[in-house]
Amino acid sequence: MREHLDPQASPAESGAEKSHPLQLPQFSLRKAVRPLIAKPAPVLEVAEGLALRSLEPDDEHLLYDLVERNRSHLESWLSWIEQIKTLRDCRRFVDKTRYNDIFSGRWVYGVWYEDALVGLLDFNEGDRTLNQISIGYWLDEAHQGRGIVTRCVVKALDYVFSSEEIARILIKCATTNKKSQAIPERLGFTFEGVDKDAGTVQGKLVDMATYSMLYREWMEHQAKRASNTQP
Ligand SMILES: CC(C)(COP(=O)(O)OP(=O)(O)OC[C@H]1O[C@@H](n2cnc3c(N)ncnc32)[C@H](O)[C@@H]1OP(=O)(O)O)[C@@H](O)C(=O)NCCC(=O)NCCS
Repeated sequence: MREHLDPQASPAESGAEKSHPLQLPQFSLRKAVRPLIAKPAPVLEVAEGLALRSLEPDDEHLLYDLVERNRSHLESWLSWIEQIKTLRDCRRFVDKTRYNDIFSGRWVYGVWYEDALVGLLDFNEGDRTLNQISIGYWLDEAHQGRGIVTRCVVKALDYVFSSEEIARILIKCATTNKKSQAIPERLGFTFEGVDKDAGTVQGKLVDMATYSMLYREWMEHQAKRASNTQP
């Protein structure tokens, strides 16, 4: 089915051209060079069957399928989804997700649930002066309602606060995006306020709510969580 995904893809790219069994596997410059310039982010095991793992070149088909399946669900909230229309767009996207450092804006995790790609979580809007980043996320419509993203955000915060010099993490969502707002609210983030006309959704300006979590607040939350789980 892949050959039908991207009308612009060449037969070799789309998989329509099969190699002869005796032929050596085709050399891919892209796959060979990537490890030299792209440092993979560490895999974060969130729970049994749930993990955050970087996207590899082979995952572009999975990303394309996921975006296509969820286009109407996502375009209600994510304006950049309009720029991801073909398999080639997904390839460019995956190639750009090269982890350099937390402030690069290129640290994107796939959300993997029972070995299927079901969403993305990324660190963006890094500010080195304030040691601050924002977290963004989206999830396959059919996988909503199971706490997948909430649990991934907990893991991401645990990881980032313990291994990076990050003091403040923000989550920003349209004020009308109640499912997204429920995530920072569920996790005890502080509601910072609303920036008017600060985002765009479906070509229209929308008000954006900002939530924050400080390093010291997260440590307090962790201590409470630990004492609640003690017998
Ligand atoms: C925003 C979005 C990721 C939220 O998805 P979600 O499934 O509601 O979020 P979670 O995966 O954290 O699941 C939370 C739900 O699972 C339930 N849940 C079940 N087990 C849970 C657990 N262990 N922990 C937390 N919640 C759990 C919660 O009660 C909640 O259900 P509810 O909505 O009925 O109250 C999703 O709607 C989405 O991708 N939307 C489109 C893109 C988008 O808006 N992105 C954000 C832009 S700012």
